[in-house]
Amino acid sequence: MTAADIDATTALLRQRLGAVAPRIAVLLGSGWAPFAEQVQGAVDVPYADLPAFPALAVGGHPGLLRCGHIGDSGDSGDTPVAVLAGRKHAYENGQADGMKGAIRSLAAWGVQVLVQTNAAGSLDAAMPPGELMLVSDHLNIAQRSPLIGEPGDGRFCDLSAAYDPILRAQARAAAQAAGITLHEGVYAWLLGPQFETPAEIRMLRALGAQAVGMSTVPETILARHAGLRVLALSMITNLAAGMEDQTLSHAHTLATAREASARAVAVLAAVVQALKD
Ligand code: HPA
Repeated sequence: MTAADIDATTALLRQRLGAVAPRIAVLLGSGWAPFAEQVQGAVDVPYADLPAFPALAVGGHPGLLRCGHIGDSGDSGDTPVAVLAGRKHAYENGQADGMKGAIRSLAAWGVQVLVQTNAAGSLDAAMPPGELMLVSDHLNIAQRSPLIGEPGDGRFCDLSAAYDPILRAQARAAAQAAGITLHEGVYAWLLGPQFETPAEIRMLRALGAQAVGMSTVPETILARHAGLRVLALSMITNLAAGMEDQTLSHAHTLATAREASARAVAVLAAVVQALKD
């Protein structure tokens, strides 16, 4: 993935989806795919057509960029969005920069806000499966960076307000208006793909994490580096390792996500509309 790939991708986005980018991009993580069905007037571009976008594993996420708007009034009250269905995970190849070209192309096109979503395990019994958590901050436990090798002083980018406080306040207000509980807490990123041990979960809790997952943090770093504002929502699919008797599995994560997705999609639609202004 080169600078020329990003230029070519940005040109393609302008050509196929419009010269003016939506202000908001939404990156869909595990369990959040049904949100793409909320997009009205959808125009799709497969990642495979966009040179700076990642090639995704067959049988995994679809890898589709969908543009349109949220809200069905069909007037200027609707919110234009670019939805990214599918992300490259660092656990696939040990590289944290799989979404670098995609995020830089969106930024070059004119996107200003990245709303991320993921599935996560909860470290707090009072935040059980099916609940939603607004990410207030993160712990980069994997200690990988997508900016390794990046030239220039921009690589020393500030993360002291990585999850934008104003966007978070707007998200909280939107969830409250929709009558949906939104927890808030620190997301710890571990590389995976194995789940954690109970000892690791005790460590993360001692370090101040409320949720644990295998994504999101690299894209937050890339987005902040590219000048985007970031918001992130976690769908809790399980209590973390050692907190209950059952073993953890990806199938269980996805099954819980399916059950929780209607509420999650409703919150996300409300949040995206609240971020319009
Ligand atoms: N650990 C890590 N990633 C996850 C989990 C978990 O318990 N649940 C969903 N994604």
